[in-house]
Amino acid sequence: MLNKTVAIAIDGPAGAGKSTIAKALAARLDYIYVDTGALYRSIGLAFMRKGFDRQLSCDVAKELSDVKVDIRFINGVQHVFLGDEDVSEAIRTPEASMMASAVSAKPEVRQYLLEMQRDFARKYNCIMDGRDIGTVVLPTAQVKIFLTASDEERAMRRYKELREKGDTATYEEVLSDMRQRDYNDSHRAIAPLKPAEDAIIADTTGKGLEESVLMLMSIIKEKTE
Ligand code: DC
Repeated sequence: MLNKTVAIAIDGPAGAGKSTIAKALAARLDYIYVDTGALYRSIGLAFMRKGFDRQLSCDVAKELSDVKVDIRFINGVQHVFLGDEDVSEAIRTPEASMMASAVSAKPEVRQYLLEMQRDFARKYNCIMDGRDIGTVVLPTAQVKIFLTASDEERAMRRYKELREKGDTATYEEVLSDMRQRDYNDSHRAIAPLKPAEDAIIADTTGKGLEESVLMLMSIIKEKTE
């Protein structure tokens, strides 16, 4: 008997609400939630710690050979590890965000993470969020959603999150970093951020969490029933 899993791909730019909404959806559907941005962030952090800047003037494949990234679920919550260290918090700084964007443009890095991501989808019913899940990682996902919101609203959400953590970045800095990152992510040669042809575009501008979750639930229901 075939034990086929269901995959829901949620792609979109930074701050569209992907992770918050995907987490809530996963809890309601009893699916695993995989935050693929955390994987790129961990590799970005590893390269930062090796002393590289965003230019990444190095042999990326060689440097990657001693980087070990792993996802573990602790009480149902995703934690990301670099070797034995839980870096789930350390990857959330503005510097780690920019480094994540830089390493994510490297084909060696994308290749390194591809099988790990596909493996989750083979094993579990999952909601995976990222930039290229519907286009590259899981092109046969049953549901593909491209989640977006206005630049200003996305930056304001990120700004508030950072503030709560005590980060002193200004709104203008967050908005400008975000636009730079969106530009990098959608203009890179490999697996750029763009909606899959069969993705449903969902805009969360002006919508709260519950309203956004309900909007996506109805898309998922329609696609999976
Ligand atoms: O979703 P996030 O902000 O945590 O992602 C961090 C960076 O990783 C983002 O700038 C782009 C990159 N990324 C990617 O290229 N592909 C993915 N599937 C997920 C993230």
